[in-house]
Amino acid sequence: MALGKNERLQVAGIGSGGKGWVDLAGTNAHEDAEIVACCDVDSNRLLKATNEYDVPGYADFREMFADMSDSIDAILVSTPDHVHAVAALKAMDLDMHVYCQKPLTWSIWEARQLSLASKKKPHLATQMGTQSASKVHKRQSVKMIQEGGLGAIKAIYGWTDRPTGWWPQGSERLTGEDPIPDTLSWDLWLGPAPVRPFKAGAYHGFKWRGFHDFGCGAIGDMACHIMDTPFYAMDLADPMTVRVDCDDVTEDQFPSKQVVQMTFAGNQFTERDSLPFTWYDGKILPTNEELGMPEGEEIPQNCCAVVGTEGTLIVSTDMWSRLFRNRVEVDFDEPDLEGRDHYKFWVDACFGRVKTETHFEFSAKLTEAMLLGAVGSHYPGSTLLWDAEEMRVLNRYSAKQYSKGDYREGFEAKPVQ
Ligand SMILES: NC(=O)c1ccc[n+]([C@@H]2O[C@H](COP(=O)([O-])OP(=O)(O)OC[C@H]3O[C@@H](n4cnc5c(N)ncnc54)[C@H](O)[C@@H]3O)[C@@H](O)[C@H]2O)c1
Repeated sequence: MALGKNERLQVAGIGSGGKGWVDLAGTNAHEDAEIVACCDVDSNRLLKATNEYDVPGYADFREMFADMSDSIDAILVSTPDHVHAVAALKAMDLDMHVYCQKPLTWSIWEARQLSLASKKKPHLATQMGTQSASKVHKRQSVKMIQEGGLGAIKAIYGWTDRPTGWWPQGSERLTGEDPIPDTLSWDLWLGPAPVRPFKAGAYHGFKWRGFHDFGCGAIGDMACHIMDTPFYAMDLADPMTVRVDCDDVTEDQFPSKQVVQMTFAGNQFTERDSLPFTWYDGKILPTNEELGMPEGEEIPQNCCAVVGTEGTLIVSTDMWSRLFRNRVEVDFDEPDLEGRDHYKFWVDACFGRVKTETHFEFSAKLTEAMLLGAVGSHYPGSTLLWDAEEMRVLNRYSAKQYSKGDYREGFEAKPVQ
């Protein structure tokens, strides 16, 4: 949508509670943006947001689009993961800019569609909600890797303490059923996912993350935040293999902890013609030796490590990066850059003033790679050969179901032509 010089960006939020509340406030803080509608399937959460911004509210984003598409320029997608692509694709089809939470999508196929939609409509400003990518230490880390400050890159690592007991993983499907509260449209919450009975406190409100039908497990939840620096710096994409070691994946949930190993093709930044990537979650940690950190030094949680021939850079999702050379910590001699406000930057991009970095073409590549780890957890101990172009596991035909799901009627994510 072409915006006039004196116009304000008219923004609507899909998912107004949880992170959506933060996304609405962050966007509204820009002097050139205003919230014009909110959508949430939970009427309590919706009411709080519509009161805050004094705007109309909808339970169903399809109705919001039908009523207001002419007066919405841009959309925030802050729902559980399984709804991201359905909502974002619809918005882009209607020529709206999109800020979509991480992971970009619930499935690899969906990420590919958002990337295609973004290529098809380059005038739309897109951004994934990995706000720490805009922080100064991450921008400096990217620059340092690109400028050869670590030498040639030998390996990359990432790790998280999640799920940390904050949400269930590794358990069997819940039994029984609870009454659906009057304030919740359970059918709309399920959206594209298969119907299952409502259970109070089990899924709605943050806990959905570890269920295959709704989330992407700890790797989906955290890896787009944690791994963005090396992926952006080295333009990594399309893993060739994946192997997941875990022991409690179930039909319904991701495993409580896992080690994921992938191989990427090498490029001008890497020491060899392939680059190993190892991911740990559920509080499993890499060793100090692997990372090139001093023996006995505590390894901080929720970081990535980029290990090069001339040192290791540890990049946190908090506000710091640390540099080690010859297993001794040295000053991180930061290139001269500034941090950004992720929301402000996206609003500016909607006006064509800047170009986002975590746009959908980049964030789809990162999300696809991380979600391959989620696919791999269905085949513990097996090395899967990945054909990224065709989006299929060459040596496990059954894996097709995990890289593209089925959609309930009325909630289809349409392929981008
Ligand atoms: N960038 C970050 O740091 C960060 C932090 C937390 C969450 N997130 C991401 O934000 C998204 C939401 O996570 P959360 O923790 O806020 O979850 P949540 O379950 O707490 O909140 C989701 C909100 O969306 C609403 N919702 C659910 N389905 C909907 C639908 N079909 N249409 C409209 N509204 C719907 C829910 O009622 C709820 O208000 C996820 O993708 C998550 O990964 C990002």
